[in-house]
Amino acid sequence: MALWGGRFSQGSSGLFRQVNDSLPFDNVMAVDDMTGSIVWSRALLSVNVLTADEQKQLEDTLTDMIAQVENGQLDVSTVDEEDIHSVVEALLTEKLGDIGRKLHTGRSRNDQVATDFRLWCRRHAEELLEDLNHLTKSLLNCASKYQQAILPGYTHLQRAQPVLWPHWCLAYVEMFNRDISRLTDAIKRLNQCPLGSGALAGTTYPVDRHQIASDLGFDGPCLNSLDAVSDRDFVLDLLYCASTSMMHMSRMAEDLIFYNTGEAGFMQLGDTVTSGSSLMPQKKNPDALELMRGKCGRVFGHLQGMLVTLKGLPLAYNKDMQEDKEGVMDAVTQWHICLRIAADVLDSAKLNTERCKEAAQQGYSNATELADYLVEKGIPFRTAHDITGQLVMLAIEKSCALEALPLADMQSVNSNIGDDVYAVLDINYGISKRNALGGTSQETVNQALDAALKAQAK
Ligand code: ARG
Repeated sequence: MALWGGRFSQGSSGLFRQVNDSLPFDNVMAVDDMTGSIVWSRALLSVNVLTADEQKQLEDTLTDMIAQVENGQLDVSTVDEEDIHSVVEALLTEKLGDIGRKLHTGRSRNDQVATDFRLWCRRHAEELLEDLNHLTKSLLNCASKYQQAILPGYTHLQRAQPVLWPHWCLAYVEMFNRDISRLTDAIKRLNQCPLGSGALAGTTYPVDRHQIASDLGFDGPCLNSLDAVSDRDFVLDLLYCASTSMMHMSRMAEDLIFYNTGEAGFMQLGDTVTSGSSLMPQKKNPDALELMRGKCGRVFGHLQGMLVTLKGLPLAYNKDMQEDKEGVMDAVTQWHICLRIAADVLDSAKLNTERCKEAAQQGYSNATELADYLVEKGIPFRTAHDITGQLVMLAIEKSCALEALPLADMQSVNSNIGDDVYAVLDINYGISKRNALGGTSQETVNQALDAALKAQAK
């Protein structure tokens, strides 16, 4: 039975119900709605709207219902009601008669849905923090497994300078740590309680809103009833967190897709996270990574969609706001799946360290070292850059690496070059020189890895 039939002489049309009913997607907030209702029943007891016995019956029944939802005995999605709030009230009334009909005193679905949805978002945000931690663990494992491996580092997707493999892993750890910090911050902001704000103007019962907030694990009550029922910034925050993190995963996926190509040959992904082709028997495709990249589209779209839905809404609650759920619910699901599969992909990855090193040595990626060498011989950097460019051109003409140029050839370009140049051109030399904080020397990377592992263990 609808919660609002009194002033209507006709029922809703089927089409109206199709557009208006939110139960098909808000049924997942059943436990949150029941939890909020338990706390509201306590508030009603404190202002003598309910007797102790009535409140106990409500709390016991709601507690039973939560257990039944959690163990799968109660499927709220099939009840013929408009939304989850109506379902919970209908079930209570079916069991407790008039006591059930008293629960909505002083409460509106507007403060109720705002509360339920914050509880839902908080619950999922906390799970996502675990997923993010799990992924950074996989990255750190991967870094430790191949702690000395050398990889070509790129700019413009052209080989630039060699980096250590753990340096690559730790770059993504930095990104996911920022996601953790961003999400933690978003949780702090969403953790304010709207319940007790009524439909828009506040509740007429002298309930203790601090107590309500604390009973529901919120840091405190929302301070303005108009804002409390119509604020959906917490949805935007969560969508922005999801979008940024998906963008990070997408960049990581792109790197790994390339590393896994036949052309690069730096790594092999496990069978459990790849798939074959229905036609080409030889194929093993990085589908999990491509989907991490591809799912960004819908997640970014949900952020944009929510901004547009909220734009220009007058205070306070408007039914437009019911459109706040499906997008973020989908974004959270996709983000969760992607974080988990990203960890599995990394766990399955086998690095071909020989091939990585070979590739890192190609492409004249030691040219910067040669320029720095000339600087040490007293040549201004800009001149050294030019001389090195000429040497690279000479090596390209001879189809050889810089270190394969005979000394006489090098000296024909610049007479300051001596036999000591060959040590500088060794791949390990350039890496070992990048010893300042944040660089890719073995020493700095080991320190960074140690620090990250210690932070994880906390
Ligand atoms: N299903 C609604 C939502 O998700 C609940 C709030 C309805 N409030 C109202 N005044 N119609 O937003």
